[in-house]
Amino acid sequence: MDLHILDHRLRVTSISKNGLVNYTHPLIKLIFLRNRTRCKFFSLTETPENYTVVLDEEGFKELQPSEHLQVEGSIWLPLNVVSNGNVSSSSQAVGVTKIAKSVIAPLAEQHVSVFMLSTYQTDFILVREKDLAVVVSTLKEEFNIFREVAGESVPEHGQDAHNGLHKNGKEAIQCTVHPVLIPQNQFCVMSLDPETLPSIATTLIDVLFYSNSPKEDVTPAAAPVQELDRIKFPADLLFTSSSGELWRMVRIGGQPLGFDECGIVAQISRPLADSDISAYYISTFSFDHALVSRGSPHLPLLRGGDALVVGVP
Ligand code: ARG
Repeated sequence: MDLHILDHRLRVTSISKNGLVNYTHPLIKLIFLRNRTRCKFFSLTETPENYTVVLDEEGFKELQPSEHLQVEGSIWLPLNVVSNGNVSSSSQAVGVTKIAKSVIAPLAEQHVSVFMLSTYQTDFILVREKDLAVVVSTLKEEFNIFREVAGESVPEHGQDAHNGLHKNGKEAIQCTVHPVLIPQNQFCVMSLDPETLPSIATTLIDVLFYSNSPKEDVTPAAAPVQELDRIKFPADLLFTSSSGELWRMVRIGGQPLGFDECGIVAQISRPLADSDISAYYISTFSFDHALVSRGSPHLPLLRGGDALVVGVP
């Protein structure tokens, strides 16, 4: 298996609900007029609390500082796992489940904080730039690691980070229990060919900037979209899984999770991986969200609010 360190230096930001009007112009440019900016990585998630925007430094320049914009202080690098075809994996599962044991658990044991962004096609694991040496030493046993530099993949061997490594990560770990919330609404995960973006632009503008979704619902916009909003999308332009599955959301965190705690994704994804249950995982500025297949028998187990979370070193 190959692990790529992508050539993007990312910022994690949030725009307050009331502040969105101040950012429509840059957001429209970043989402729809992509050749007008040099931004190459952009992600927007709407939740009842705020809008989380993750974007590279070029894109970040488009967002004027204001009281409505919160910015996490670090630079984050996206990692991406590419299976080179010859792996005989018995698992049919998609999303974070696929990388729970090989990437997420080892990083948590080394106290590396991650920020997860699952998409329809792939999962991005964001790590802080300052943790990169530890990340490479931790994952180099299991993966061929490449760093993407100006479009080329260069093998990355990493410096010795052995003094930074926790030999007995598992024992040093403390546990924090975060409450989980499972809203009633269901989600559909979709994807589209960038070529067809113009034909869906007005619908997206409507959903992103003019939807008055009920406050108590957790409603990430773009993808995944809430079941209700799906009706607005022309089915022929979008890719969905053949079974047209719906997903239930598990929101992790009663209080905002912050960015320093590690092992939250690990504790949620481990039991899902043990049972081979597909799950997408989306971190936002305040909370984490797992999307779990609706039919999953394990959903009631998570409902107890007993998601155990490995915590602060
Ligand atoms: N850092 C957490 C972990 O390593 C996941 C992100 C939680 N924080 C957040 N703001 N969503 O498991």
